[in-house]
Amino acid sequence: MCPPEHFGVLYEINPWMHTEVTVDLDKARAQWDGLVRVLRDAGATVDVMDPHPDLPDLVFTANAGIVNGAQFVPARFRHPQRQGETAYDVEWFSARGYQVDELPVDVRHEGAGDALPFGAGLISGYRFRSDAAAHAHVSRLTGAAVRSIELADERLYHLDLTLCPLDERRAIVAPLGWDRYGRRVMEAVVAEPLVLEDDEALAFVANSVVVGSRVVMPSCPPRVGRQLEAWGFEVAVVPVDEFLKAGGGCRCLTLALDVTL
Ligand code: ARG
Repeated sequence: MCPPEHFGVLYEINPWMHTEVTVDLDKARAQWDGLVRVLRDAGATVDVMDPHPDLPDLVFTANAGIVNGAQFVPARFRHPQRQGETAYDVEWFSARGYQVDELPVDVRHEGAGDALPFGAGLISGYRFRSDAAAHAHVSRLTGAAVRSIELADERLYHLDLTLCPLDERRAIVAPLGWDRYGRRVMEAVVAEPLVLEDDEALAFVANSVVVGSRVVMPSCPPRVGRQLEAWGFEVAVVPVDEFLKAGGGCRCLTLALDVTL
């Protein structure tokens, strides 16, 4: 995770971002601290990277790249506004002994924000930020099978706004974000889906972090909470509305390092 010292909405690269909206930095810091606290309390170890004054979206570490054991595949960001992050992400992972394997320069892929481990490999979203053409390269570099899902709603521009894997069989899903073929693929892949209503999906309910049996969520409708609890999960809601102003929720603010594909 990366603290929000220099966070802000300084440009508009998704439909949620409006530069005329100001971020309350003290509140953002308190919300970010709250997220760290709840994740640690759930049993996670949180490593932190230094913030950078010119990179307000560096807080959204989910987009740094794809982690696979001791391998790191850095993102290739769609928008120039975020491309400067990659050098810092690579530096962070290199300094910790990760092997860094890069995607070709001509494909876009926004890391774990668009690639989630589920089933026998990775599910990877494409269209708004990542290219479908990147998926074969992700597969070649990581050795993981990659299933491609086309994202269909600009407001749900990253896969992690539409899918939250819970365990091998279950996931929170937001079909609003997928085209018809993507919906069919996800129906085949997720044995027990918790299907979000459109308004729930747009409240970023799927952008949650799972630590063991705890689901750390930006918000949780009672119906969703009841289903999660019936499945044996505990819900922890952490308000992150300062970050929603930039189009990111709990999961976007984290990058899981304990992933081996
Ligand atoms: N402002 C950031 C962007 O538009 C938000 C990133 C959200 N990250 C995510 N994994 N969904 O790139």
